[in-house]
Amino acid sequence: MSALLRVFALRGADREAALDWLHVHCELEGVLEQDEAILVWLRDALPRPPFAGLQVEELPHDPTAAAVTGLEHDAAILVANDLLVRPPWVERPAGFNGIELVVPRGNAFGSGEHASTQAALCCLHAVWDAPASCADVGTGSGILALYAVQRGCPAVQACDIEAEAVAAAQELLPTAVVRRGGPEVLAPADLVVANLTAAEQHAALPGLLALWTRRSALVLSGLRNHEVAPLLARLPSPPDRTFERAPFTAVAWLGQR
Ligand SMILES: C[S@@+](CC[C@H](N)C(=O)[O-])C[C@H]1O[C@@H](n2cnc3c(N)ncnc32)[C@H](O)[C@@H]1O
Repeated sequence: MSALLRVFALRGADREAALDWLHVHCELEGVLEQDEAILVWLRDALPRPPFAGLQVEELPHDPTAAAVTGLEHDAAILVANDLLVRPPWVERPAGFNGIELVVPRGNAFGSGEHASTQAALCCLHAVWDAPASCADVGTGSGILALYAVQRGCPAVQACDIEAEAVAAAQELLPTAVVRRGGPEVLAPADLVVANLTAAEQHAALPGLLALWTRRSALVLSGLRNHEVAPLLARLPSPPDRTFERAPFTAVAWLGQR
């Protein structure tokens, strides 16, 4: 692993989809969305996203970045007035008395910086009604399942199709059931949450609906504006709550207890 960060420019119609893919498949140290390009910084070579409408160019090193370790800008992320996410090496902000999710960065997707994670957390926080069980599909680092554990949910399950994510989530959540695979590997749960890309949401939707007992909420996040309506068209009723953390939206249906 190099001490220098490498910089790549993503261009073309599929650059946003490629960015979503990269968030899941490698550890991005920085992202800058410009009008015509998205710049991404990482320590290693860029894995090649599988999109036809994408051009990738490696840019020359920024010499001022030579001493960057990646930890300088770490800070607690206030997701809501009473909810924050921070890595273990950042101190709890003085005077904060709300819910804290302490998640190490670098193990798997989901350490609080990504807007889709924040939209999911805001939505989960708003609809939380102390469910008896909770399932987090596509758990990544385990951050959404950690929210359920912190709120005292007695039966928390999580799954992910990536082995690294399963290992990271199980380490973060020793009391939860963490399985490798999709929604079909979990037992029915009163609250179901899934922060997935739109394509993944479409593929997982039948499994998510089969998992959900409907006693508490269903929360779906990871959708860009133009992706919301096509997914909602596949559900029997409009959502009860919608949260936007640009450029991502999370939607929720409340339970019927
Ligand atoms: C966008 S990340 C979300 C991580 C975390 N839940 C968060 O909110 O930050 C999506 C995760 O879902 C996983 N994934 C994609 N499709 C899946 C499926 N059908 N079943 C389970 N996991 C899936 C990916 O491997 C990835 O770790």
